[in-house]
Amino acid sequence: MFTGASGPLTPVWTYDGTVPGPMLRLRQGQPARIVVENGLNEDTTVHWHGIRLQNAMDGVPGLTQPPIKPGTDFVYEFTPPDAGTFWYHPHANSLVQLGRGLAGALIVEEAEPVAVDRDLLWLLQDWRLAADGQMAPGFGSTMDAAMSGRIGNIVTINGTVPIDQSVMAGERIRLRLANASLARIMALRFEGHRPVVVAVDGQPCDPHEPEGGRLILAPAMRIDIVLDMQGDPGKRYAVIDDFYDGLAYTLTTLAYDTASSLRAHPLDVSPGLPRNPLPEPDLAKAERQEIVLQGGMMGGGKLAGVGGMMGMATPGMNGGAAWAINGMSMTGDGHAGMAPQFTLPRGATCHLTMRNETAWWHPMHIHGFSMLVLARNGSPVPHRQWQDTVLLAPKDTIECAFVADNPGDWMLHCHVADHQMAGLMTVFRVT
Ligand code: C2O
Ligand code: CU
Ligand code: CU
Repeated sequence: MFTGASGPLTPVWTYDGTVPGPMLRLRQGQPARIVVENGLNEDTTVHWHGIRLQNAMDGVPGLTQPPIKPGTDFVYEFTPPDAGTFWYHPHANSLVQLGRGLAGALIVEEAEPVAVDRDLLWLLQDWRLAADGQMAPGFGSTMDAAMSGRIGNIVTINGTVPIDQSVMAGERIRLRLANASLARIMALRFEGHRPVVVAVDGQPCDPHEPEGGRLILAPAMRIDIVLDMQGDPGKRYAVIDDFYDGLAYTLTTLAYDTASSLRAHPLDVSPGLPRNPLPEPDLAKAERQEIVLQGGMMGGGKLAGVGGMMGMATPGMNGGAAWAINGMSMTGDGHAGMAPQFTLPRGATCHLTMRNETAWWHPMHIHGFSMLVLARNGSPVPHRQWQDTVLLAPKDTIECAFVADNPGDWMLHCHVADHQMAGLMTVFRVT
């Protein structure tokens, strides 16, 4: 019932019967074993988004494992090297399976507990519902595929239409934000509060206040913030998403208990988190690679820069291509025999430039690695931020670096599900 207690029921697809799926809590450096049984009527896989794991456990059908057939199961076993906020979702028929609700949070706990009063998670999902509360039809329409993707009309927090979030004056909250939407980019502002970003995509960064107090959270991204609750007892403060011009809305409201403050002074312990054991890129000896994002609708309904490629009869339609990377459109979810765009020798540093030639936003996601974000449009990116999903604005150029320490064939794709399906995807190999 996404439209309120009296609204119609919306059929969804679930992990273990809930939306989102169960929150999985693992320990850093401790082996995990997760059995996935496929009760759907179609193939699936599970991808452990952001976890640096063995290629065979990465959940890409055809590329890293055979798809899990209906009625069968697959055992995922891995040891998460990094503590932080991650998530899991299918990598088969992704647009439909993720869009119908298959997603869950995966939290890897730090070896030592972090000093906060509460640890909260908001898993955000965006749904396109019809007036009768049913999932709107038309997954993969040409319009969505070649424009901004399937943006919905209802945003939920942890599977429910947001109600007030009760807080106490003076408490320190670690809030883990995860955007599991198909396409909706969010820019969250916490009225009356000053959130401090302590991790992006699960990886701790130098603690900092975001520019303009806005947290930009694109599909698949996670941001951990520390919030010192400095509001007044009994008061209410809005959390606003104003990413899209003219479409700002109140996501939820922080409702303060009437009790007086937990503490007289805010904590002065630094909110920073211990860094994860990421290999340090050696920029002096880096292998340079560039990927160029092409395609999408321009003015007048024309597709830009995607021509003469595979399956172009009706661009963006029925699995056709609307986008390309370096002139090549790989569509779908991943499959066997995808030729790698580039190959890296194991242990090399890759200096990767991503250039967005399109008129659209793209959260570009790398499997198996976290990338140190070096520069955006030539300006250095501060805070030593490592990300597995980097948002490119139209015409942006991003430079990042990572050490290719993990052998296998790895995906690199836009996490707007429609874009991925319609060709904004590639593969690279580490030998
Ligand atoms: Cu979270 Cu290939 O994706
Ligand atoms: Cu991933
Ligand atoms: Cu995209």
